[in-house]
Amino acid sequence: MRHLAVFASGRGSNFRAIADHARLGILQNIEVSLLVTNDSNAPVVQIAREDSIPNVIIEGVYRRKFASKHDKEKARNEFDERAVGILKEHQIDLVALAGFMQVLGPRIVEAYRFRIMNIHPAKDLVRFGGAGMFGKHVHAAVLDAGQTESGCTVHYVDESVDRGPIILQSAVSVEPGDTPEALAERILIQEHRTYPKAIQLHTDGRIAVRDGKAMIDLSGGWLERWNRRQEAFINYQAGLRNERLLESST
Ligand code: GRF
Repeated sequence: MRHLAVFASGRGSNFRAIADHARLGILQNIEVSLLVTNDSNAPVVQIAREDSIPNVIIEGVYRRKFASKHDKEKARNEFDERAVGILKEHQIDLVALAGFMQVLGPRIVEAYRFRIMNIHPAKDLVRFGGAGMFGKHVHAAVLDAGQTESGCTVHYVDESVDRGPIILQSAVSVEPGDTPEALAERILIQEHRTYPKAIQLHTDGRIAVRDGKAMIDLSGGWLERWNRRQEAFINYQAGLRNERLLESST
């Protein structure tokens, strides 16, 4: 059994989707063992508690003011150092950043090289990734640029921001009259399906990084088996949506 830690700072819908995939037996041979957050008020903490997933809060640089750049970097390094210690303690094999509002420094990136993933809500990471490109800003920029397509990307984390080797991408069409919120919502549905798939590919040893590129091995019917298993999640989500519709109409 492999052990996964999720790092998150906010709402936690990706964390929930990953935990649901594990609970439904879709993710195999990997356990969601830990949530790490840098914001004690993040709603994601409550989700972990409900699912009885151990969680730790490590103060980082998010939502904090620093007197100097030096102080901020010091706090970032302290976070990384503590996080590495906790990951070792919990024997974590893989880290998934899911709405984690803090750039990781070299200490943790080196210690977990190609064992840290991130999800970004765009496909073109050159134009719509990097510093300042988070949340609504990403979707607003995509719409402003008149793109006809966006989506999401799961990639390994390296020393850059949002530019590590790409593992998986899912495309979502931009619809006429789209708002950043509407586009974000449709992309999120894909994020919830794409992230667990990348985690399973990694766990199954199906990803090799060569010359900075991630190569995926889907031979032997991997994709068919995954799609068949993931139907349970898609049906579960459709059930939840129906429940919400019923609730709002009564
Ligand atoms: C997602 O859109 C993810 O792509 C981005 O931050 C958002 C997190 O959402 N990195 P949630 O907290 O998982 O709901």
